[in-house]
Amino acid sequence: MRGKFCVIGGGSMIGSTLVDHLVADPEVESVRVLDAFFADDNRGNLADALATGKVDLVEGDIRNREQLREHLAGMDGVFNLAAVMSLDGAGKNEWMWTVNADGFFNIVDVARELGIPRVVTSSSAAVYGELPSDELCREDVPLRPSTVYGATKAACEMLASAYSASQGVSTAVLRYGVVYGPRLHRRAKSSLVISDVIDALLRGERPTVIGDGTQVCDWVYVGDVARANIAAMQSDSTGEVFNVGTGGRRTVAEVIDVIYRLLGVDGQPPIFEPAPEGVRYNQNIMSPEKSEQILGFRAETSLEEGIVAQIKFQRSQLSTQS
Ligand SMILES: NC(=O)c1ccc[n+]([C@@H]2O[C@H](COP(=O)([O-])OP(=O)(O)OC[C@H]3O[C@@H](n4cnc5c(N)ncnc54)[C@H](O)[C@@H]3O)[C@@H](O)[C@H]2O)c1
Repeated sequence: MRGKFCVIGGGSMIGSTLVDHLVADPEVESVRVLDAFFADDNRGNLADALATGKVDLVEGDIRNREQLREHLAGMDGVFNLAAVMSLDGAGKNEWMWTVNADGFFNIVDVARELGIPRVVTSSSAAVYGELPSDELCREDVPLRPSTVYGATKAACEMLASAYSASQGVSTAVLRYGVVYGPRLHRRAKSSLVISDVIDALLRGERPTVIGDGTQVCDWVYVGDVARANIAAMQSDSTGEVFNVGTGGRRTVAEVIDVIYRLLGVDGQPPIFEPAPEGVRYNQNIMSPEKSEQILGFRAETSLEEGIVAQIKFQRSQLSTQS
């Protein structure tokens, strides 16, 4: 893929993995990472990419249009991964709105001003709300988000549609399932199960899991999500929304079984604890059909392969800590 690209929120698990994929493409001229680096240990995610000399890193906040104007100038495309999520109650609602929705407005509007042709942005299965769990979510069902985070993402989707239709910025929106893999940080509540269980077992402790194990999720590996972003940037589609999931239905208990098996742990079953008030797991399973047909994207990493990679990462983290 030819050109200069900016990855906003590029310090994140998904953003930094995308940066690794971009620098590996000889046609990509340069990659700029713009991140506020609010998440404490994010910079380390970019160590390998920075060592290639193809990446420059700027600290910036998407709520600040001046910074966006300065740092997005000259880009051929922008990937937006920056967002905040909290399930901790209404006190964080305004923060989520100003970062996720106002911040995305700034990005697409500055892209319009600067004549940047394409913006790919990250949405979530949370926009669907709580659909019956036996239903596969297709992109064209009405959106009924049940969390403020989901609503901020739905608002971004509407903006992306409008900027494609009438403002000269071609957009693609990617709705991710529950993303896991190396660099998943411990505050990622939606994917907490995998990193927490691996962490406890590696330390020889008994894991605690929120819920009763019966929740289903569409777990999707971070490397696949990075590939979906690149496919979306290259696509001729405009103003479209794509699911990025596997379409597979695995319960939390099944995922935990896989981790136990891969770590060779027998015994010490997890302690299941009721979810705190207001914490909702996204149980939406997404149809992969449209992204396969239009983007040519299909998630390829099996849960087992993905968990092996995550175990390897967490093991290396533990050994550098000790
Ligand atoms: N992880 C998942 O399971 C999942 C699922 C669905 C959607 N998503 C979306 O994918 C994207 C990346 O998710 P993730 O889990 O890899 O990372 P994350 O959500 O943990 O991190 C987001 C990044 O955005 C940056 N950021 C936050 N506020 C900012 C601001 N005001 N200005 C600039 N940067 C800011 C943070 O420093 C961080 O690097 C997010 O948009 C998220 O909403 C993630």
